[in-house]
Amino acid sequence: MAYDLIVIGSGPGGYVCAIRAAQLGLKTAVVEKRPTYGGTCLNIGCIPSKALLHASECYEEAGHTFGKMGIGVSGPKLDLRAMMAFKDQGVDGNVKGVEFLLKKNKIDGFHGHARIVAPGRVEVKDADGKTQSLEAKSIVIATGSDVARLKGIEIDERRIVSSTGALSLPEVPKQLLVIGAGVIGLELGSVWRRLGAQVVVVEFLDGILPGMDAEIRRQAQRLFERQGMSFRLSSKVTAVDTTGKRLKATIEPAKGGSPEIVEADVVLVAIGRVPFTDGLGLDEIGVKRDERGRIAVDHYFATSVPGIWAIGDVIAGPMLAHKAEDEGVALAEILVGQAGHVNYDAIPNVVYTYPEIATVGKSEEELKAAGIAYNVGKFPFTANGRAKVNLTTDGFVKILADAKSDRVLGVQLICADAGNMIAEAVLAMEFGASAEDIARTCHAHPTLSEAVKEAAMAVAKRSIHM
Ligand code: FAD
Ligand code: NAI
Repeated sequence: MAYDLIVIGSGPGGYVCAIRAAQLGLKTAVVEKRPTYGGTCLNIGCIPSKALLHASECYEEAGHTFGKMGIGVSGPKLDLRAMMAFKDQGVDGNVKGVEFLLKKNKIDGFHGHARIVAPGRVEVKDADGKTQSLEAKSIVIATGSDVARLKGIEIDERRIVSSTGALSLPEVPKQLLVIGAGVIGLELGSVWRRLGAQVVVVEFLDGILPGMDAEIRRQAQRLFERQGMSFRLSSKVTAVDTTGKRLKATIEPAKGGSPEIVEADVVLVAIGRVPFTDGLGLDEIGVKRDERGRIAVDHYFATSVPGIWAIGDVIAGPMLAHKAEDEGVALAEILVGQAGHVNYDAIPNVVYTYPEIATVGKSEEELKAAGIAYNVGKFPFTANGRAKVNLTTDGFVKILADAKSDRVLGVQLICADAGNMIAEAVLAMEFGASAEDIARTCHAHPTLSEAVKEAAMAVAKRSIHM
């Protein structure tokens, strides 16, 4: 069968690229090795983790804050199997949604492992070992990423788990040891802490959430500690002894020094993700990769082999679903001769803990390092009416604007619902808005978003409610 386009991988990069390509008139096929579409994001990533974050947050609220609002509930009881079924139902609805969209757009779906045998030719091997050959003018690699592993610490997805195992634990561990204070460690650490686990997070660097604005990182750590999570910074786990009933992890100072043994029921390895290109046949056909194993592409997502393109987690850039989606749309448009483009300066980054953390653009440290003069406007949620009445006063908004032009260069939020609130800041940055533009935009009252307006006013030292 000959296509205009074959997309390998049906994650947010692949399926969105396929749909946009079909909208633009390309005869398109998608090959997916999993039984269901949607990739890491829908099956074992964004969607199931957010289902558990939502459910566990409700559980904690029922136990802790309902009473303060005059809602009497006897101690909420956890039915973990039912909570997992709730999560699986959410995943099921989403993956079926993708299947529906592929059909609606007349995209042919193939289940099996794809290998590129030559430019324009893909071989698909299904679960029974049967192979079929597909042909296309263009091939898009959207094969995503896989869990990064720690040498000597073998993930069995039972007691030593990656995010995948941590999304399906059969019972709440008494003690959960998390390796890595990045986004997975904090999100899934929060889930299991809320459900009753004692959570210790070991981080190699001297602070959590490396790469984010330092003020946000410090505030986040304080709040997570107040919730009961504990952190072992500048430390590394060098071994996990699995021989006993409980796991025994060896923790050492990052720079070396005397080891300490910490016991745990489950260890979560969350030290990052790596591009996934196994069995694609890239070396045989000469598709180049960079020093970190990511497929090397130019500004138009073209690889070193004509007719083969790549998007999403498998190329450089933040490993985020919305970044992969935007690349999918841009590439489909490029393939039909349009001017597809992704603005990498305005990609939001959200950590779905409580409070949520959401950022876009530059941090203060990045602006300092680049020698860019900036003004800062900050506004705390303790001064926001809606946050006060909702008892969600943790956190602040920080806006960084160019000292000369007032153009918004970065926005940092740490507060309830930050993930939804950051959209305003992203739009402002896409449109090249100044802090004054945000300050003079009418924001509904009473909303948490008024704090964004107040922070924008604070850039010019004229916030009203502080
Ligand atoms: P993927 O989603 O990884 O999809 C790639 C697909 O390709 C897979 O389905 C794979 O089976 C298939 N494939 C690979 N090789 C082949 C082959 N040879 N033949 C056929 N099929 C193949 N991002 C966010 O933006 N927000 C979040 O809240 C968020 N939460 C996350 C939570 C967790 C626990 C994890 C692990 C990740 C999370 N992410 C989140 C990251 C997000 O999942 C990824 O950035 C996103 O899925 C990348 O999309 P992709 O299309 O590049 O690849
Ligand atoms: P991460 O890169 O966010 O964090 C990994 C952490 O582990 C870092 O703090 C790093 O310093 C630390 N680390 C590395 N090696 C270590 C070691 N040997 N010992 C101790 N600490 C070590 O990676 P994470 O959390 O695994 O997530 C992978 C990716 O998945 C993220 O980068 C993100 O792109 C994506 N993701 C996005 C989410 C979101 O958008 N809300 C949610 C979950 C994942």
